[in-house]
Amino acid sequence: MLRLGHRPDRDKRMTTHVCLTARALGATTVHIDSADRELEERVDKVVQQFGGDTRVVTGENPRRVVKETDLKVVHLTMYGENIALWDDDIWHDLRSGPGVLVVVGATKVPREFYELAHINAAVGNQPHSEVAALAIFLDRLTQGEPLGRDLKGKVTILPQERGKRVHFETDAVTEDEGSP
Ligand SMILES: C[S@@+](CC[C@H](N)C(=O)[O-])C[C@H]1O[C@@H](n2cnc3c(N)ncnc32)[C@H](O)[C@@H]1O
Repeated sequence: MLRLGHRPDRDKRMTTHVCLTARALGATTVHIDSADRELEERVDKVVQQFGGDTRVVTGENPRRVVKETDLKVVHLTMYGENIALWDDDIWHDLRSGPGVLVVVGATKVPREFYELAHINAAVGNQPHSEVAALAIFLDRLTQGEPLGRDLKGKVTILPQERGKRVHFETDAVTEDEGSP
């Protein structure tokens, strides 16, 4: 995926959430336009602990990322075509193609990206958030498959009806009966 308009001082939490959401929902690479070493390290720490192979690359030229990719470019914007009304053919094409580069903004997205995208997709035609739009879009694209994966991290959460149970690579299991 590609995040446009990241402002390291203002968007610290939001862009971190974009990256973690992309990772949890199966993205392999997150491109960020502004350089932000701390963001790379923050997300990398989660990957080191919880597994997977999602990479965050910051300081990228977003036009070049979009122009040089072989993937289908889907720009998420409330002004686009509402995914709730898409034909199954569109999903089928996206799922069976070379892969998808999902683009989300932070501030106003330059018009050029609306032109460069193969599809301008709206997750409903109401304003909300890039994290919400990304999560819903990726969940529909992947039909929920990444949510059930084991990412084989050093830390694995063992789902509980109540309390917290976590498995560490050492084989020890920590139990926490307290509320989350
Ligand atoms: C908080 S919005 C800012 C939008 C900005 N005002 C503009 O005009 O482009 C940040 C990002 O959230 C995403 N987003 C927000 N609502 C959306 C929706 N209904 N459908 C798809 N994406 C949405 C878009 O990627 C957008 O660039």
